[in-house]
Amino acid sequence: MTNKQLQHYEIGMVGLGVMGRNLLLNMADHGYSVAGYDQDQAKVEALQKESTEQNIVGETNLIDFIALLSQPRTLMLLVPAGDPVDSVINDVLPYLNKGDLIIDAGNSYFKDTNLRTRNLAEQGIQFLGVGVSGGEQGARHGPCFMFGGPKQAYERVRPVFEAAAAKVNGDPCVAWLGNESAGHFVKMVHNGIEYAVMQLIAETYDLMKRGLGLNDDEMHDVYALWNKGELNGYLVEITSHIFSKQDDKTGRQLIDEILDVAKQKGTGMWTSQSAMELQVPIPNIDLAVAMRDLSVFAKEREQADAIYQLALPRFAGDRDTSLTQLGRALFAAIIITYAQGMALLAVASEQYQYHLDLEAVARIWRGGCIIRAVLLEDIVAAFHARPDLPNLLLDLNLSGKLMDHQEDLRQVVCQAAKSGVPTPGLMVSLGYFDAYRSIWLPANLIQAQRDYFGAHSYERNDASGTFHTEWDKE
Ligand code: 6PG
Repeated sequence: MTNKQLQHYEIGMVGLGVMGRNLLLNMADHGYSVAGYDQDQAKVEALQKESTEQNIVGETNLIDFIALLSQPRTLMLLVPAGDPVDSVINDVLPYLNKGDLIIDAGNSYFKDTNLRTRNLAEQGIQFLGVGVSGGEQGARHGPCFMFGGPKQAYERVRPVFEAAAAKVNGDPCVAWLGNESAGHFVKMVHNGIEYAVMQLIAETYDLMKRGLGLNDDEMHDVYALWNKGELNGYLVEITSHIFSKQDDKTGRQLIDEILDVAKQKGTGMWTSQSAMELQVPIPNIDLAVAMRDLSVFAKEREQADAIYQLALPRFAGDRDTSLTQLGRALFAAIIITYAQGMALLAVASEQYQYHLDLEAVARIWRGGCIIRAVLLEDIVAAFHARPDLPNLLLDLNLSGKLMDHQEDLRQVVCQAAKSGVPTPGLMVSLGYFDAYRSIWLPANLIQAQRDYFGAHSYERNDASGTFHTEWDKE
């Protein structure tokens, strides 16, 4: 093994796909000696080709790879979520010693992380589940790391992750968030918010394209402008870039050559499922998942289009005013979306005993991750002022901002409803806002209906206990 020193490398990475390779290169840049393993020779070569440092090696042989790691070993996994994680764990386990640490850096389902943590602990192996956000560029130059698992195991590896993480005003975007699956749960909700914000931005695109008749260059300018103000954030920024990208093949704008079908790997759906289990309403995230699912029914949409043939009339009114209103409506809907995500985290924290510090969550989301946005400064401040805030809509500053923008959201939703441009994300944001701020909801009727047909009983305003009425008896 030329240039390879046994028991020398501080971090070992299993899985040299885009994320694994880039994270290793990032850590090596910060002076850490790292070893990567992949069965695929081409991936090992890709790692070595990009590494200019001495402190980085690749291996295709698992036993040789493990022998390279300094002890106690730190083994990081960046393999697809699900069975591949268990299969790698089973492969490496015979060669590990008590006190070694496995870090699962994939988008693993949080309940799997709980099981793995417990099973491995029984064998004396420490296990950390870390959510890594930021895509390829983030992994290479500074992602956001959301850790869960035994705190002392995190402390052991903290320096390398602090070095590799994105920084906001010098603060590394990494934190230990709680026991067991805390990190993976927070990453899952991060992705849920990501889905919902992407859906909202996509709806503004549709409104600009079909409602206002803007072309791609004009939309590039609008998103670029929005990114300079209160909407500043990674997803708005990349959207502006997307509208200026030309297709190598046709010479036209690439966006118009892309199929209108959006797939998913599952984290958004898990967020919705978990929220349902915990009985926390997160309709923007549910809707974003549903809209990706609906987009897949392209053939049926084609048939329905032929049946209904409803024209989409252009919006009336001044274009610049409409665009300003649209940006403000988007901002309101994004606040409402983060509020739903954070509310889910607040309940999960209690239910699953994560003891999450939501200020810390918002703080590390300010950099490196996909949902980083200037709005997170307000969210940090909200949880700083009140760590047990159940919902961001109750924060004084954010509620002020919402009050100031809600009329724009209302106008945009009305306009969209009249014209027939589908904006279910914006609509559901408004519906959630109006319901959440409502001192009375028609749920008394639902109680009455349940009692009518199913004798499920109901509660009264003027007395405690449960009551039942024979509704159809005179
Ligand atoms: C991130 C991303 C990343 C990835 C997800 C979502 O935070 O860097 O969320 O984890 O993009 O896999 O992908 P899907 O849209 O395919 O579910």
